Amino acid sequence: MENKTIKLIKSRVSCRAYSDKKVSLKKALEVAEAGKYAPSAKNRQIANVYVVNSKRYVEKLRTLSLNEQNRDCMYGAKTIILVGAPREDMFTDKDCSCILENMFLAAHALKLASCWINQFDDLFNTKNGLKVKKALGIPENYKIVGSCILGYPQDEASLQVKERKEDFIKVL
Ligand SMILES: Cc1cc2nc3c(=O)[nH]c(=O)nc-3n(C[C@H](O)[C@H](O)[C@H](O)COP(=O)(O)O)c2cc1C
Repeated sequence: MENKTIKLIKSRVSCRAYSDKKVSLKKALEVAEAGKYAPSAKNRQIANVYVVNSKRYVEKLRTLSLNEQNRDCMYGAKTIILVGAPREDMFTDKDCSCILENMFLAAHALKLASCWINQFDDLFNTKNGLKVKKALGIPENYKIVGSCILGYPQDEASLQVKERKEDFIKVL
């Protein structure tokens, strides 16, 4: 029988259509806590996560993406966790990516749907975006490497694991 954790890893999928049901703050914090236990280069733990679960701030982020890019990059999700670290640090991208993946897997373990959202660093570089970034308490020099939207899927059955390329593994 396949190991439970490996089975979980292999069944995670990105979700891009969320129902109105909101994730509790308790669950969102459990996901964030899993991010905290990601590896970090030299154990410096340079990153922070910003759990945005209030209607007010989620709406600010959604409006920002609508106004600046003419699309709603929240896909109806009512919770988002932004992951960032100092832009000038050479390990920012790597550390934050480890945190994000931990969170996607934790979300899946808690039966929540999730997706990586990439746009916020660019959005925070706009005039309006900088105001939102400040309002969220994110330091100006922080790069938002990615974010994890969380919610419940509109249509669970449509979430299918994608085919993986056959020659992914090279054995030497
Ligand atoms: C670095 C990175 C950036 C991504 N950015 C976005 C994004 O901005 N919006 C989105 O809907 N999905 C985004 N995704 C999700 C990918 O599209 C998704 O992982 C890919 O299609 C494979 O599907 P799966 O996650 O269901 O396996 C991103 C994924 C990664 C790793």
